[in-house]
Amino acid sequence: MIKRLLPWLFVLVAGPVLAAGAGPVLLQSGANISDQASLQRGAQLYFNYCGSCHSLQYVRYSRLAKDLGLTEKQVMENLNFTGGKIGDTIKAAMPAGLGPDAVGAEDWFGKAPPDLSLIARARLGGADYTYTYLMSFYVDPTRPSGWNNTVFPNASMPHVLWERQGIQTLRPAEEHAEGGEGHAAGPSFDLVKPGSRTPEQYRQDARDITAFLKYVGEPAALDREKYGIWVILYLLLFTGVAYLLKHEYWKDVH
Ligand code: HEC
Repeated sequence: MIKRLLPWLFVLVAGPVLAAGAGPVLLQSGANISDQASLQRGAQLYFNYCGSCHSLQYVRYSRLAKDLGLTEKQVMENLNFTGGKIGDTIKAAMPAGLGPDAVGAEDWFGKAPPDLSLIARARLGGADYTYTYLMSFYVDPTRPSGWNNTVFPNASMPHVLWERQGIQTLRPAEEHAEGGEGHAAGPSFDLVKPGSRTPEQYRQDARDITAFLKYVGEPAALDREKYGIWVILYLLLFTGVAYLLKHEYWKDVH
């Protein structure tokens, strides 16, 4: 019996381990979409630093107002830099530059910046991918933008948050810290020029943007978490009622 089960055990245990070894080592984002202040800060950062290049094609400004606890006026004045209407979906401020005549982001960066509506769901590792990506830019003079990234090697996106994070360099591979307990160690960086934010504040910036993009990937999750507790309570209550009812039905049988 045990012998027959062993191969299956191997598949169950080794599968995730092998899969985990394939991608980059990801940091835990700690992004919390129930933290509305974090979502608001993340939205502010997103529209100031990312919205020029990236669109959020599945989200409308009106939905942001409702979900982030902001007035429509606050959204239009602080988060909308494209002149879009409150009911519009969120376009990038910069043209993508596709097509023979249009000049835009693709011509300048070599790649069109992808829509970020679903990025926190599309990549292995989910929100942790986005978070680690924002933590992993380093100077690399061999790249056209001057920047490289350990999570997404040779990405054509520059490090748009460098004034906040500062400038970091990548340590040569052999100097990377040993990962304890059989974990692969992630790359190590040296902050050679501090930014306007302390390392802890920058981690919070990255966490806030990540929370915002996680929310954007599934706005309904906010409601689901709110209703979830009531569903559980209902089920508990119903179990109690069903138990009493069973007692009632069976009391003459015994
Ligand atoms: C100057 C334009 C520009 C700005 C500003 C910008 N990006 Fe990008 N971004 C790009 C481009 C171009 C790519 C595509 C990179 C590639 O495919 O090589 C990209 C790719 C990405 C990706 C996709 C990585 C993947 O695995 O496909 C993520 C996530 C991302 N950007 C997040 C952000 C966030 C968050 C911000 C704001 C802090 C931001 N970007 C600001 C140009 C920009």
